[in-house]
Amino acid sequence: MPAKLIKGTEISKQIREEITREIEELKSKHGVTPGLATILVGDDPGSKVYVGQKEKACNNLGIYSERTDVPADTSEADLLDLVKKFNDDPKIHGILVQLPLPKHIDASRVIYAIEPDKDVDCFHPVNVGKLMIGTGRFLPCTPHGILELLKRSDITTEGKHVVVVGRSNIVGKPIANLMLQPSPGGNATVTLCHTGTKDLATYTRMADILIVAVGHPKTITAEMVKEGVVVIDVGVNRTGKTPEGKAILSGDVDFDAVQEKAAAITPVPGGVGPMTITMLMKNTVEAAKASI
Ligand SMILES: NC(=O)c1ccc[n+]([C@@H]2O[C@H](COP(=O)([O-])OP(=O)(O)OC[C@H]3O[C@@H](n4cnc5c(N)ncnc54)[C@H](OP(=O)(O)O)[C@@H]3O)[C@@H](O)[C@H]2O)c1
Repeated sequence: MPAKLIKGTEISKQIREEITREIEELKSKHGVTPGLATILVGDDPGSKVYVGQKEKACNNLGIYSERTDVPADTSEADLLDLVKKFNDDPKIHGILVQLPLPKHIDASRVIYAIEPDKDVDCFHPVNVGKLMIGTGRFLPCTPHGILELLKRSDITTEGKHVVVVGRSNIVGKPIANLMLQPSPGGNATVTLCHTGTKDLATYTRMADILIVAVGHPKTITAEMVKEGVVVIDVGVNRTGKTPEGKAILSGDVDFDAVQEKAAAITPVPGGVGPMTITMLMKNTVEAAKASI
């Protein structure tokens, strides 16, 4: 029987409705409008699209948004000054510097410069450390989105074997850590796989919940999963174009074959993707609340 679809588009809509109510309350009770500053360096088309989507989400929800586009040859010092300006601006509760940055800029220096209380991407080492010990205010957006997808689909993680494929700092490592936390939404036994893993399928077949973030289409095939697995496919791969010139997206999992064995699975698009920006909005609202 085909798997139940975990519909990120619908869950994201639910969360945005909740956020809208929180924003209305912040405005009416405290006179505070959450504010997000986005900084785009250069004119990478993909980054432009992402920053545009974040701006649009702010506008739709009633979050104040301030976007600054600077040229690709902006110096690191000028970028650090810009970050400092937003650190000091009380209208701004969250700062997002769109990555990747041009090669002449040290991205970690820029991330370190963001005030941790305004680090709504949760990339600053202080926030990464807090996540690890389970005391974080912010959770990184994509992993946080995955937690919400599971929770709101009534999929418990407690005592389950969660296998994560991919160890990036923005997805694999933080979601593995969150799954380990001894709290609701975590408390799982976790295996983290990467390109150094010998015989990946041995591990993926043991998964009760399989989270895949590798960036290659069809890395996970039906032979690599057990019956009844829950699959969260984070991958976004451009695998072609429609006759109208629109990108065709696919995940890291062979969706058609794996859905025949899985109990539940996220589609691509419409699974994890819509959650990421929603959780960024959520973090901006949390930062605004904390500023009161
Ligand atoms: N939907 C969203 O909102 C969202 C957000 C973030 C990312 N993504 C997508 O998720 C995917 C992953 O992104 P990322 O930033 O986490 O990627 P990344 O930084 O490129 O990391 C990929 C990870 O996958 C591992 N890997 C690659 N091929 C593998 C294989 N065949 N077997 C086992 N491990 C393998 C790599 O291992 P090594 O460390 O050993 O190299 C690496 O740890 C991309 O398609 C990206 O576009 C989507």
